[in-house]
Amino acid sequence: MADIDSRAGLTYCSPAILEYVNSLHAPHDAALKWAFEAPASFGLPSIMIGPSEGKMLTLLMKLGQVGKAVEIGALAGYSALRIAQALPADGRLWTLEMNPDSIRAVREALRRAGLEDRVSIVEGVALDKLFSVERDAPFDAVFLDADKHNYWAYARWAHQVLRPGGLLLADNVYYFGNLLADTPEAAAVRRFHEETARNFDSVVIPTPDGMLLGVKR
Ligand SMILES: C[S@@+](CC[C@H](N)C(=O)[O-])C[C@H]1O[C@@H](n2cnc3c(N)ncnc32)[C@H](O)[C@@H]1O
Repeated sequence: MADIDSRAGLTYCSPAILEYVNSLHAPHDAALKWAFEAPASFGLPSIMIGPSEGKMLTLLMKLGQVGKAVEIGALAGYSALRIAQALPADGRLWTLEMNPDSIRAVREALRRAGLEDRVSIVEGVALDKLFSVERDAPFDAVFLDADKHNYWAYARWAHQVLRPGGLLLADNVYYFGNLLADTPEAAAVRRFHEETARNFDSVVIPTPDGMLLGVKR
């Protein structure tokens, strides 16, 4: 059941409700807790996804029987752990990250989770590194969580390297509330939406800043 307000975007969530449901449905093991808290100690902004979005990634990876995944934007490895925890023993995540401080944090997060063998960190500016990852295509899932104005380019790439039925996920697709703004950056994010809607069977899950889910046709 919904009502006019909730269908129009109003949320019934509150910080207390979110904390309660996260503690039950999306709890942190020791490595996840470390990765969630790590940005502050590495001088990084705390801009990782929330526990619910993280657990959603885990479950989507399982539902999609994802064996090979790519992530663009690792920060301190929180979402990478959420994805990698869902992969089979012979699965692999390639995570692209350009910030050396982040890369140090991700390495430590993977070590703590015992997932070093399942995740490859690809260091550098993502657009310059995609070619080095695509030799391992086709992939089962691609998660975008880096520079939003390049999402359209990442999604085009994802369409080429995903298998049919493969998943595209992208965080912050409301663009921090600025999606409809009259700026070149917002226009670039709208281009991402328009192209993705054409090329994928897609929906925006109404998380706080919108999480796009697309299935390659
Ligand atoms: C929002 S954070 C990622 C959060 C992470 N996905 C999580 O939820 O735990 C964005 C990350 O993307 C990285 N980034 C931004 N632009 C990038 C680019 N062009 N190439 C590679 N990494 C980039 C930033 O350094 C930052 O660590």
